[in-house]
Amino acid sequence: MSIEFSERLQQLPPYLFVEIDKAKRAAIAEGRDVINLGVGDPDQPTHPHIIEAMKKALDDGNNHHYAFDAGLPALRKEISAWFKNRFNVDLNSDNEIYPLIGSKEGLAHLPLGIINPKDKVLLTDPAYPAYRPTIQFAGGKIANIPLKASGDFLPDIKKLESVTGAKAIVINYPNNPTAATATKEFYTDLVRICREKNIIIISDMAYSEVYFDGQKPISILEIEGAKDIAIEFHSFSKTYYMTGWRIGWACGNPTLIAALAKVKTNYDSGIFQAIQVAAITALKTDPRIIEDMRTVYQERRDLFINGLRSIGWKITPPKATFYVWAKIPKNFSNSMEAAKTFLEKADIVATPGNGFGEAGEGYIRMTLTVSKERLNEAIERLKKVI
Ligand SMILES: Cc1ncc(COP(=O)(O)O)c(C=O)c1O
Repeated sequence: MSIEFSERLQQLPPYLFVEIDKAKRAAIAEGRDVINLGVGDPDQPTHPHIIEAMKKALDDGNNHHYAFDAGLPALRKEISAWFKNRFNVDLNSDNEIYPLIGSKEGLAHLPLGIINPKDKVLLTDPAYPAYRPTIQFAGGKIANIPLKASGDFLPDIKKLESVTGAKAIVINYPNNPTAATATKEFYTDLVRICREKNIIIISDMAYSEVYFDGQKPISILEIEGAKDIAIEFHSFSKTYYMTGWRIGWACGNPTLIAALAKVKTNYDSGIFQAIQVAAITALKTDPRIIEDMRTVYQERRDLFINGLRSIGWKITPPKATFYVWAKIPKNFSNSMEAAKTFLEKADIVATPGNGFGEAGEGYIRMTLTVSKERLNEAIERLKKVI
């Protein structure tokens, strides 16, 4: 019998990073000293008090069973308190908050609950690659909205004014890969347009706490009327160094939350309860640990950007996230060529911008998730290839 992937899977575009992944694995297997600036995963371990809370929760047999789909009421209440404290937005913990097995899981399942075949979904280009396939799995047709440096990597409001027939728009600020943040003016215009045109706003705020120079990103739910049309996704992953734990939440419009909840009921059986208990501890933590996390990345950002400047590569410093989104140096003709050369000649892994969409061509993404020593070493090596 010959087994074929479903048409759904076959319609996905080829994976762009195959070659670079192969070269990376080969370099590591050869024992080369590879500096990985490709991963969006903090290098620090989870804070000890969160691990302690998890250990205690593991010993409690009550946590060993199927969890409630909607998560522990205590977790939803704590999320509500955290949100009020951070964004001054009131969320009803009964129907406006839904814990997730990581924000990616929720982002992936939501389209199945709200998108019908052939519905038009607006998606920024470049974008975090996880959005596209799940919209396509739901049968949605993607219309790209280019993000340009000249527009601060925000969708052009004038173009959005003239959009017709769209069901939803996906936005992500602070943004992966461009590291841009959204302004209150942009969100206000977006909410107005989407309310007029009946467009659902799906906002991904996984990097809400990774920001620099005291410039706190705002939530779209702070905008008046946003809760009529918007759902926002949040994550413990980057804020508390908990990427592997798999926990996040969706919040906002209760009907959108209900749609996501109904899909999830058919796919999973909740989040391991011990992880939920540890997540409550995380949310209650003194916010100074989050400040410390920002200081770590801000110091690395300044060192890396200044170091690259000193070797002739001038890059706009990121305002948020731990990504550096840089125009490729002039001696390269495209993103892939730059990424390949970095790996082959400098043992540095970086992500070619075209992997995030066509508009990412001409850029390369490097992460600040390695130590200052390694960033210094990376600058030394890059000196020889740019
Ligand atoms: C923009 C963006 N959204 C969501 C996620 C997923 O985060 P989580 O660990 O909560 O699933 C990531 C992970 O890198 C991301 O970059």
